[in-house]
Amino acid sequence: MKLPPYDIFPSISDDNILLRQIQTSDIDDLIEISFYDSIQATTLKQATEMQAKINRDYFDSNSIHWGITDKLTNKIVGTCGYYRGLDKGEGELGCVLLPQYREKGFMRPALQLAIDFGLKNIRLKRIWAITTRQNDKAIKLLERLNFIKIADLDDNEVEYELRQDLNLTD
Ligand SMILES: CC(C)(COP(=O)(O)OP(=O)(O)OC[C@H]1O[C@@H](n2cnc3c(N)ncnc32)[C@H](O)[C@@H]1OP(=O)(O)O)[C@@H](O)C(=O)NCCC(=O)NCCS
Repeated sequence: MKLPPYDIFPSISDDNILLRQIQTSDIDDLIEISFYDSIQATTLKQATEMQAKINRDYFDSNSIHWGITDKLTNKIVGTCGYYRGLDKGEGELGCVLLPQYREKGFMRPALQLAIDFGLKNIRLKRIWAITTRQNDKAIKLLERLNFIKIADLDDNEVEYELRQDLNLTD
């Protein structure tokens, strides 16, 4: 297994999007989608503090958090990454798009890049995601990526797991 941190923060891309390290200058655009421990930031200061915690988790080998940018406009459209489990060779995948970039097809390829990186580079044994039962958009996204529901959890949440045999590209 090759856990973070890496000598160089991994940037990964396909033809349309780039997953890259979040810069201080990005944070202002990301306030409304900045979360830590399920708490949402409302100010730049809070979002900056959350980013510092996320950076610490990266250096502690506990997480990797990418900014997703649209290569056409160079704008940051959302974030995704692995936020738990890396120490056990597993990864909880999370993702969020800025509201104005939802339903435009950004997240599926972004998660595919993150999944490929997780399987091939980190060499995760398992990838999972948790969302609420009502989150149709997230469930549709996960199912399109070959996740299957494996558990109903408390607090109206559901756990999905990647069917690796169906997913690994090339
Ligand atoms: C969950 C979330 C990331 C899904 O975003 P999304 O934009 O629906 O997902 P995608 O980027 O894959 O886009 C797919 C949608 O874009 C549409 N779309 C429009 N243009 C498209 C294009 N050029 N290519 C592909 N899809 C396109 C698709 O039809 C699809 O909509 P549909 O599900 O109604 O069929 C988003 O709703 C979000 O940020 N929610 C809040 C955070 C959250 O719930 N995170 C999940 C935690 S597990």
